[in-house]
Amino acid sequence: MSELVTLTHRDGVAVITIENPPVNALSPGVPEGIIAHVETAGADPAVQSIVIIGGGRTFIAGADIREFGKMTSGARPRLSLTPGLLKIEDCPKPVVMAIHGTAFGGGLEVAMSGHYRVAVASAQVGQPECKLGIIPGAAGTQRLPRLAGVAKAIEMCAYGEPIKAADALASGIIDKIVDGELLEGAIAFAKAQSSIRKTRDLSDKLAVEPGVFDAARKEAKKTRRGQLAPIAAIDAVEAATTMNFADGCAKEAELFQKCLFADQSKSLIHAFFGERAVAKIPGIEKDTPMYDIKSAAVIGAGTMGGGIAMNYANAGIPVIIKETTQEALDKGMAIIAKNYSNSVKKGRFPQDVMDKRMALITPQLTYDGFEKADIIVEAVFEGMALKKEIFGALDKIAKPDCILASNTSTLSIDEIASATSRPEMVIGHHFFSPANVMRLLEIVKGAKTSKSVIATSMQLAKKLNKVGVLAGNCRGFIGNRMVEPYGREAVFLAEEGAPPEQIDGALYEWGMAMGPLAMGDLAGLDVGWRIRKEYAHLRDPKLRYAKISDMLCELGRYGQKTGAGWYKYDENRRPMPDPLVAELIEKAAAESGVTRRTITNEEIIERTIYALANEGARILEEGFALRAVDIDIVYLMGYGFPAWRGGPMFYADTVGLKKVYDRICEFEKQHGEFWTPAPLLEQLAETGSSFKEWDKQKEAAGASA
Ligand code: 3HC
Ligand code: NAI
Repeated sequence: MSELVTLTHRDGVAVITIENPPVNALSPGVPEGIIAHVETAGADPAVQSIVIIGGGRTFIAGADIREFGKMTSGARPRLSLTPGLLKIEDCPKPVVMAIHGTAFGGGLEVAMSGHYRVAVASAQVGQPECKLGIIPGAAGTQRLPRLAGVAKAIEMCAYGEPIKAADALASGIIDKIVDGELLEGAIAFAKAQSSIRKTRDLSDKLAVEPGVFDAARKEAKKTRRGQLAPIAAIDAVEAATTMNFADGCAKEAELFQKCLFADQSKSLIHAFFGERAVAKIPGIEKDTPMYDIKSAAVIGAGTMGGGIAMNYANAGIPVIIKETTQEALDKGMAIIAKNYSNSVKKGRFPQDVMDKRMALITPQLTYDGFEKADIIVEAVFEGMALKKEIFGALDKIAKPDCILASNTSTLSIDEIASATSRPEMVIGHHFFSPANVMRLLEIVKGAKTSKSVIATSMQLAKKLNKVGVLAGNCRGFIGNRMVEPYGREAVFLAEEGAPPEQIDGALYEWGMAMGPLAMGDLAGLDVGWRIRKEYAHLRDPKLRYAKISDMLCELGRYGQKTGAGWYKYDENRRPMPDPLVAELIEKAAAESGVTRRTITNEEIIERTIYALANEGARILEEGFALRAVDIDIVYLMGYGFPAWRGGPMFYADTVGLKKVYDRICEFEKQHGEFWTPAPLLEQLAETGSSFKEWDKQKEAAGASA
C-alpha cells in the first residue's frame, strides 16, 4: 500500500490521510492510494463510515501540475481520475471529506466525489485550472453545478478564483463548518451519517435560464481576452445541463485534452512554476543570514515613493516618507490617502484597515528617525548626481546594517553605491508603476552587493506581496533594457506606414495589456525624451533614428498627462487617433527618407516581440538575468505580457527558435544592425534547442548568482 496515503481506524470510522507534502498534490500513487483504502474500508465490516483528510498544511491542492508536461510530451499516458472518483462515490458507506487549507482543482473534484464535506472556516475551495490554461478534468464541471448551481460553477470554473468556506457552505459545496479540531469534527459528523448521497445523482440545481451560457461566453471573451480555457470550461458546464453525467464527463474529457495540448496551457504552467523558480537563487543558500526588516524609510513622495511607502504600510511595516517641500509631501500623502479610500469604497478592506495603514506612514521633511530604519528606499528624480548626493548623505546617517535601496529605473547601482562607504549594503529595488499595484520587483545587485542583502530583498519582496526577480546591473536592467528595442520597433513601424492605432491594436489583440505607443502615452513620453537627450552623445549617428517621438515632445505632447501624445485624449482619458500625428509621422518619414508601405499585423507582432526575445537572449548570455524564465516573469508581472503566451522567451520557444532566428536574420538584411541576432539565439536555433532547455542545462551545471 502506498505510503503517500495511510489508513487508520477510530471507533468504526476509517480515517484515510493523504501525506504528500508540501501541498498533497495528486501525484502518481496518491489517487490510487485513496481509492484502494476507500475500497478496503468499504468492504470492512468493522467500518461504518470513512473520513478522508489531508496531512500537513492542506487538503489536496489539485493534480500534480508537473505531470502535465510529461503527458503532453508523451513521457506518460494521460490517466483520467474520473473513473477512480466514481469508485469513491460508489462506496456503500458514508465518505466524509475533511477540508483544511485548500481543496483546489483535482482536490475539490476528489472532495465532491465524497458523500459529504466538512471544512474549517479558514479553508478555501476552487477550480483554478483555467489559470493553467486547462479545465477541471475529473468531473469538476459536472459535479460542481450539481452541488452549487450553474452560475456558481461557471464563475468558479471559468475564472478560477477560490472561495472561502462560508461561501462554499452557502453555495452547497460543503455541508458544515467545523469549529474545533477538524479531524474530531469530521469523525463526529461521519458517525452521525447513516446514508450516502452521490453528487452525480443530484439534478435540482441544473435548471438554467436560456442565454446564460452565451452571456457567460461573451463575458469571458471580454475579460479573458484570447484565452481558450475559460470558454471551454463554460462549454463543459453547459454539457452538465444538456447531457447525462457520463456523457458530460466525456465532453469534459474531450475539452480538457484539447486545452492541455494547446500552447496556452504550456505557457501558463511555465508561468506558474516560473513565479516560484525566480525565488530560487543559485549560490544563495537557504541558511544565508538575513536582516530583519521591521522599519523602513522612503525618500521622495512622488509617483513611485508614495506607492512604495504604501507597500510597506500594507505589510504592517512602519515607514517614514521624506520630501523636500511641504507642498510635495502633502501632495504625496493626499494621493496615498485617495488610493486607500478608493479601496475602502470598493470594499477591498474596511475603514479601520485604512486608518491603521495611514498611521504607519510618517510624512516628514527631515532625516529624523532614518538612523533607526532597517531599510531606506530612495525614489527621487532620475539623475545620477542627485542620487549620489543622497546616498552620500545616507551613508552618514543610516545604521551599519541598514539596506540602502534605489528605485532607479536605468542608472548604475555600482555608481550609486560608490557614493557610500558600504557598497555591500546597496541594492536596486525597482518597483513598477503603480508601485502599490504592480507585482514585479526587480532586485538589482551591484558588483559588491552582499548575499545577505540579496537574500533579504528576495524575502522582503514576498512580504510586500511582490514577485522579486534578481537582475544584474546593466542599463535598464532586464525589463527596461528590453523595452527599449520593443518601443524602437513600434516607432519604426509607425514611420514605415503602420498607423499608431494599428500597432497598438495588433499587440492588444495579440494579448498585451496595452500597445507600446499607448504605454508610452501612459508613462509620459517626456521620460524617454529626457533619457534620449542625456545619452545623445552615445548614439551612433550612422544608425537609424526615428524623430517622431522627439517631435511629439517638442509640441508638448507628453501623453495622457498633457491630454495628447501618440493619441489625443478626451476628459475620460479615452485615446483617439489624431490626424495631426498622422501628418507628423509622414513628415518625419519623408525627412528620414523612409519609404512608407502597408504593414501587416503579423509583421508588427514579429518586429516587436522578436525584438524583446533577441535582447532577452543578450541579457541572458551576458549574465544579467539568471534564467530565461526570470525574463519571462519580469514581462508577465511588470509589462502586461499575456501569461498565456508564457513571456517573450517562452513565446519564442513555442514559435521555434529556428523560425525566430531566421526572421531576425531577414530583418537584419532589411533594417540593418539593430537586428543582429544575439549569439545565444543563433546557437540555440542552430542546435534545435530552446531557452527552456538552456535554463535546464544551466541549472544542471549549478550556475550561481
Ligand atoms: N502540483 C505540483 N506542485 C505544486 C502544486 C501542484 N498542484 N501546487 C503547488 N505545488 C508546489 C509549488 O510549485 C511549490 O514548489 P517549490 O517549493 O518547489 O517551489 C510548492 O508546491 C509550494 O507551493 P507554493 O509555494 O505555491 O505554496 P503556497 O502555500 O504559497 O500556495 C497553493 C499553495 C495555494 C496550493 C498554491 O501552490 C497553488 O495555487 N497551487 C496550484 C493549485 C492548482 O492550480 N490546482 C489545480 C491543478 S490542475 C488540476 O487539478 C486538474 C484536475 O482538474 C484534473
Ligand atoms: P517623481 O518626479 O514623481 O517623484 C520624485 C520625488 O522626489 C519628487 O516629489 C521630489 O520632490 C522628490 N525629491 C527630489 N529630491 C529629493 C530629496 N533630496 N529628498 C526627498 N525628496 C526628494 O518621480 P518618480 O516617477 O516617482 O520617479 C522616482 C524614481 O523612480 C526615479 O529614479 C525613476 O526613474 C524611478 N522609477 C519611476 C517609474 C515611473 O513609472 N514613474 C517606474 C520605476 C522607477
